[in-house]
Amino acid sequence: MKTSEIRQKFLDFFASKGHQVVASSSLVPWEDPTLLFTNAGMNQFKDVFLGFDKRPYTRATTSQKCVRAGGKHNDLENVGYTARHHTFFEMLGNFSFGDYFKRDAIHFAWEFLTGEQWLALPKEKLMVTVYATDDEAFDIWNKEIGVPAEKIVRIGDNKGAPYASDNFWQMGDTGPCGPCTEIFYDHGEHIWGGPPGSPEEDGDRFIEIWNNVFMQFNRDESGAMNPLPKPSVDTGMGLERISAVLQHVHANYEIDLFQNLLKAAARETGVPFSMDVPSLKVIADHIRACSFLIADGVLPSNDGRGYVLRRIIRRAIRHGYKLGQKGLFFHKLVADLAEEMGQAYPELRQKQAEIEDTLRQEELRFAETLDKGMALLETALAANSKVLDGETAFKLYDTFGFPLDLTADICREREVEVDQDGFDKAMEAQRERARAASSFKMAGNVDYSGADTVFNGYESSSVDAKVLALYKGNEAVQQLEAGDEGIVVLDNTAFYAEGGGQVGDVGEISAQGGVAALFDVADTQKVQAAVFGHKGRLARGSLKVGDSVTATIDLHKRAATARNHSATHLLHAALRHVLGEHVAQKGSLVNPERARFDFAHNEPVSAEQLAEVERIVNRVVIHNVEVSVGHMSYDDAIKAGAIALFGEKYGDTVRVLKMGDFSTELCGGTHVQRTGDIGLFKIIAETGVAAGVRRIEAVTGEGALALVQAQDGELKAAAAIAQAQPGELLSKLEKLQAELKAAQKQAQQLKGQLALGQLDQLLSSQQQAIKGVSCLISKIDDIDAATLRDMSDKLMDKLESGLALLACVADGKVSLIARVSKDLTGKVKAGELVNQVALQVGGKGGGRPDMAQAGGTQPENLAAALASLPAWLEGKL
Ligand code: ALA
Repeated sequence: MKTSEIRQKFLDFFASKGHQVVASSSLVPWEDPTLLFTNAGMNQFKDVFLGFDKRPYTRATTSQKCVRAGGKHNDLENVGYTARHHTFFEMLGNFSFGDYFKRDAIHFAWEFLTGEQWLALPKEKLMVTVYATDDEAFDIWNKEIGVPAEKIVRIGDNKGAPYASDNFWQMGDTGPCGPCTEIFYDHGEHIWGGPPGSPEEDGDRFIEIWNNVFMQFNRDESGAMNPLPKPSVDTGMGLERISAVLQHVHANYEIDLFQNLLKAAARETGVPFSMDVPSLKVIADHIRACSFLIADGVLPSNDGRGYVLRRIIRRAIRHGYKLGQKGLFFHKLVADLAEEMGQAYPELRQKQAEIEDTLRQEELRFAETLDKGMALLETALAANSKVLDGETAFKLYDTFGFPLDLTADICREREVEVDQDGFDKAMEAQRERARAASSFKMAGNVDYSGADTVFNGYESSSVDAKVLALYKGNEAVQQLEAGDEGIVVLDNTAFYAEGGGQVGDVGEISAQGGVAALFDVADTQKVQAAVFGHKGRLARGSLKVGDSVTATIDLHKRAATARNHSATHLLHAALRHVLGEHVAQKGSLVNPERARFDFAHNEPVSAEQLAEVERIVNRVVIHNVEVSVGHMSYDDAIKAGAIALFGEKYGDTVRVLKMGDFSTELCGGTHVQRTGDIGLFKIIAETGVAAGVRRIEAVTGEGALALVQAQDGELKAAAAIAQAQPGELLSKLEKLQAELKAAQKQAQQLKGQLALGQLDQLLSSQQQAIKGVSCLISKIDDIDAATLRDMSDKLMDKLESGLALLACVADGKVSLIARVSKDLTGKVKAGELVNQVALQVGGKGGGRPDMAQAGGTQPENLAAALASLPAWLEGKL
């Protein structure tokens, strides 16, 4: 049975049992910033299990994209070397949210695995495990399903702590969890291994194919197990594993889906196809993880998710390199993957070009250092030590872009270990250096347990409020006195706290019109998710917890910030229009002065494209469309075409900001009322900030006017200096430039002539005889190296027999030329002569026996070096 059929059969089976078929969620978890990547089918339902979220269904089934690389579940280093590890895999799952529990879950699983019209696996090949104390599950398997007792293994807390067991599943250190029952398939006696719970359980004979978790608890930070609102079910079956079973192969890589990818990997690396080449498996596995991650908006970078992606890509490239492929190849496999899996995951086809482009760029980037890094590593490994020192591993990481696990991977092939401690030390030392070099402000870390702050700043610029808490520095106090710096927490406020790329508001908090107290707010930051901290200094009076105050923002600055924020939305929409739908926001910063917007795009935006973007944005400004705000469910917002950000956490109800039909985004920021409020929109810079990420900076409103005025002023001043009429400046500058060049050339020639004219004088004043040989040792001022050379030619014409060392200094560098007439080269060579001086001025040179040249970087040592020559020549001549 083909993998695609198994996937479909599973979904069909559970649909027939009343389950809603739900699409796979993104690999970037929407709702859970603590999770690196989606690593189980239940992730997207976490809040449903916990009772925080409700769905219109109580039974669901999915085929979920999962990545287990980096973070808590990390299989990266095993990929390619074992029969079953993957970075990317698909997890088939069925879920009950307070609907059915153990009995139905077990019956469903058994029916699907063994039922004639479903997978029809031979029952005798299956065995199961249950949590040691779960008699209920044991009895269902034994008495209702008929699995003999000797094929039901009870597994207790075998991982060193209560509830730490192969048969107690939990998503992470906290969150939903519960006992589970696992179903194993026996691949047969010819394969080594023992049943679960036996000493040989790590062998490959008995393979877990399906985990059924009975979700019952929510483990909190203290480790306490709090019962869930309703007992639930979460199951997971690796699609690749069950496919291996049904296709009668032992290793996942032998299944149909991988065959074409392995062949493609062989084709692109130029090696014969074989199942015994681990590197081909690595490449076939990694092209899946990388393509799916990029399709879900992850881009290679130096931290977080992006760095895990970069590590996987580089590992794949290195395995290609190992097979002898030193050119770009990895991105060429995307087409094969899209062919293989594009039907089930259309994003692979839609984003094929973008994925290829991203991978190609990353290949190009790594190609620059891979060769050099490998050479360094080969040299270190040639020492034949069993351990690679941490310094080398760090140098490979820091200078050549070798992630540590990549270095470890290569070392492992030679049975060499990496000195992780040494690496950590080198890394820490570098961090220290960086820390010392930068001074940064720590965000206020204050203890607060009280009511939330209500934000009224969308409608009002000034509100009456009560002081809920005060902090002097970060210490909670009852009262602030004039001069104190600290934080004020209010019950409600007009101040926007920094978030979504928008800076916090500034303004003032006053009591009795500023007579009793006046607190200057320099910044507003969240102290907790819904508690706003107004940071600043009490300029006058004293302020107590419980005081009634008026909180008023600096409206002028807020309006400027709002203009810039609204402009980024228009910019985002215009960029998608001009560059394509792949443009996704990667970050932004808006303050009263400017707007900064980072977005995914693989090449610099051309001047014409930028001009077009500017025109589009300003057109929407001129149309003065209304900016409207709506509140709706997240799903409805997305259906209505709103743009959401990857990795951003959104609540049940989202705030949707619409600017006519031009832009719809989820946003909590403060905005203009109509686009016309923005005034002029002007781009000031376009730069690259990381691979595949561009940054545009722009100004609006008064900022744009100030910019245009400043540029205009500069232009007029320049025209005045160039004595150009308006409109003539460019041609005038070109003309001046040409004149300048000609004048410089002429000056050079004149200087040369002048220097040549000095020659006779030079000879008569500085020529000396050393052992009867005519020698000229001289530093000549005001000439360049080319003239120095001409001069030496003329000199040798005049001197029939003799030698010369001429030096000059131009642009802080020393130029030297040595000449020796042919009859003397037997005694001293020009090369020796020139180096006698060059080595003393930080340089080295060479040439023919009769003429040699050199440069140097230490003009300050030149006089002494020249003075040392006569004595040296005495010895030579
Ligand atoms: N969530 C369970 C697992 O990942 C089913 O094994």
